[in-house]
Amino acid sequence: MKLLLKGGRVIDPSQDLDAKMDILIAHGKILEVGRKIHKHGANFRKQTETDITVINLGGMVVVPGLIDMHTHLREPGFEYRETIRTGSEAASFGGFTSVACMPNTMPANDNRSVTEYIVRKAAACNIVNVYPIASITMGSEGNVMTEFRDLRDAGAVAFSDDGKPVNNSALMRRALEYASSLGLPIISHCEDLSLSAGGSMNEGFVSTELGLQGIPAIAEEAFIARDIIIAEYTGALLHIAHVSTAGAVRLIRTAKERGLKITAETAPHYFTLTEDALREYDTCTKVNPPLRTAEDVKAIKEGLKDGTIDAIASDHAPHAPTDKEVEFEYAAFGITGLETSLSLSLRLVEESILTLNQLILKMSTIPARILNLPKGNLRAGADADITVLDLNKKWTVDRAMLRSKGKNTPFHQWTLKGKPVLTIMGGGIKYQELP
Ligand code: DOR
Repeated sequence: MKLLLKGGRVIDPSQDLDAKMDILIAHGKILEVGRKIHKHGANFRKQTETDITVINLGGMVVVPGLIDMHTHLREPGFEYRETIRTGSEAASFGGFTSVACMPNTMPANDNRSVTEYIVRKAAACNIVNVYPIASITMGSEGNVMTEFRDLRDAGAVAFSDDGKPVNNSALMRRALEYASSLGLPIISHCEDLSLSAGGSMNEGFVSTELGLQGIPAIAEEAFIARDIIIAEYTGALLHIAHVSTAGAVRLIRTAKERGLKITAETAPHYFTLTEDALREYDTCTKVNPPLRTAEDVKAIKEGLKDGTIDAIASDHAPHAPTDKEVEFEYAAFGITGLETSLSLSLRLVEESILTLNQLILKMSTIPARILNLPKGNLRAGADADITVLDLNKKWTVDRAMLRSKGKNTPFHQWTLKGKPVLTIMGGGIKYQELP
């Protein structure tokens, strides 16, 4: 069956394209992108009309399928929080056609059989492409390196002990060197545990007022500085996860100015909320690294604008009510994010911090580049992974309606403008709510 997407505003940052175009899809691939593709044109000569589904996308924006490079799918082991299927459904609702999933499962994704399990399960679900990120160390415990080559051969696209830092600098050095020799990045969760341990929120005036132990910005910045130094020494591929502080942005900016090929991501909650959101002790605002100050939010936005921060990732961290409905200190860290990520990020376009083109770069084209995925563009011959956005559609976040098992959103009852309305993966419609 062929699919003809007609009359949408097609934005493809990979080829600097922003124009009203039609897209013809067949056999899971983009066959043609052109100004006016007719049902009876060259590509249809041998087809009967019933073979073609035409979707009119006048007034809609058509972009390369969004790619979330930092998702927690929780399977295997924590299926009460999320499964590969519910996570995939949430991703598709949020406009994502690909997600890379973190290895802090049970067991951790530290060996080939777990990687293969994830790949197989995701393929059976057939909703989004799922790319496993394998652990740097066995059990993400920071002691013994995993078998990088074996994991790469099984389908891992990067290595990370996300949720925990790699404390041992010598091990981090070896991991960076080895991953780089395979052409894969290390995604670093930067946190000096000796500075952060026991903390629940950003350290500062508000934490003192609320009587909660703080996590200082320097806990994040100390390890970013260390990793930048190791990356410079080794020339390796370093990607810094969930950047949240002004100091972190400064460190990464300076490193890039000096020519280092490091990359970095932030998540929507770090440019949308400040530590003030914790004043009601809502555990849905508890996340690691924590929500910071207004100055940090400003710096994150500047970092996004000037390219210091390459990508926006959801850091989708679904948790069960039993993880969150406890005293603040005991609650799990994490915000469910796949379904609100794009709409929250579109606020950056409204605020003129990013152009729409730049936003799609950071949510599709660049993540594809960092993870070496043959994705993130709308060229003829590419996989037909496509997201259609209605920039004017208003919707109200309702945690009960989320596809994810994780209802832990601090954005409950927020009304947002702009939404994915059609998600196509591998030429198949996986989600749609077209007007
Ligand atoms: O808030 C967080 N939640 N930060 C992390 O680094 C891990 C994540 C999780 O797995 O829940």
